[in-house]
Amino acid sequence: MHVVVSGGTGFLGAPLVRALLAGGDTVTVLTREPSRAGRMFEGRVATATADNLPDRFDAVVGLAGENIGRRWSRAVLQRLRESRVGPTRLLREAAEQRGAQVLVSASGVDWYAPGADHELDENAPPGNGFLARLCHDWEQAASSSRLRSVALRLGMVLGRGGALARMLPFFRWGLGGPLGNGRQFVSWIHLQDAVSLILWALRNAAVRGALNATAPEPVTSREFARTLGRVLRRPAFLPVPGFALRLLYGGFGKVLLESRRVVPRAATAQGFEFGFMRLEQALREILVG
Ligand SMILES: NC(=O)c1ccc[n+]([C@@H]2O[C@H](COP(=O)([O-])OP(=O)(O)OC[C@H]3O[C@@H](n4cnc5c(N)ncnc54)[C@H](OP(=O)(O)O)[C@@H]3O)[C@@H](O)[C@H]2O)c1
Repeated sequence: MHVVVSGGTGFLGAPLVRALLAGGDTVTVLTREPSRAGRMFEGRVATATADNLPDRFDAVVGLAGENIGRRWSRAVLQRLRESRVGPTRLLREAAEQRGAQVLVSASGVDWYAPGADHELDENAPPGNGFLARLCHDWEQAASSSRLRSVALRLGMVLGRGGALARMLPFFRWGLGGPLGNGRQFVSWIHLQDAVSLILWALRNAAVRGALNATAPEPVTSREFARTLGRVLRRPAFLPVPGFALRLLYGGFGKVLLESRRVVPRAATAQGFEFGFMRLEQALREILVG
């Protein structure tokens, strides 16, 4: 299969590209920096920019987008949108024109309205905050009547890098702890499972529409901190006050305090098997090996 991967240089994209290559697929990485991408994969991938996509390909995975985990200024909000909605629409149109069969496009669990502690599956209602609206428009841009389209509603992806790398220094110094009152649910997925889920969605013709990409057992922020502390053998009790998060990250700080207990109903109902069901198991693999 010839797969075009946008964002193939990223935290999730790079291991996906390596897994596709290992499985014998042909990969074109759609990137803003083709020479860097070429070096990254030692010349084993073709590279393209948005205006010189290959004439034919079979599948597309859309993972590009400005990083969300930072202070949201007005300019950042604009870049978060502009790096996702328009480029995804163009990618979907190119895929339709070139006869591709499937488009798997990233979205996020922030699509859902935050809830207290009830489980949110793919039928749960949408939210209406900035990220929820962005995810909605992003998914709309990827949706098609001419090819199979899958919207991957990702939780926090845990691996060596990403969000975990940003919190680790605090936890290693014994300064980590729950966010706010710690009662909000955090939906997470191990990087290896996120990659496997994308490969499964690409190859499984029955999978279409919204697909929660989260481990079956989301945890509260308090439980997350406690588990990370246990794995690192460090105390992890110091709560990060909500006002500090809002001060530091603006709108993103508010999102960190919202609860979304998202469960992967569609994936498990269709037979996908997670390698990492429990948070402690996932964190041990990443941090202890
Ligand atoms: N990681 C998570 O926990 C998580 C959770 C929920 C949703 N997601 C979504 O899943 C996708 C992949 O996540 P990730 O963590 O792998 O992302 P990432 O590493 O932060 O970025 C992926 C790629 O996006 C491209 N990119 C970055 N800024 C851009 C900009 N301003 N304009 C256009 N392209 C830009 C870069 O590719 P080039 O430099 O090669 O162009 C980068 O390698 C993202 O869209 C993200 O929002 C991730």
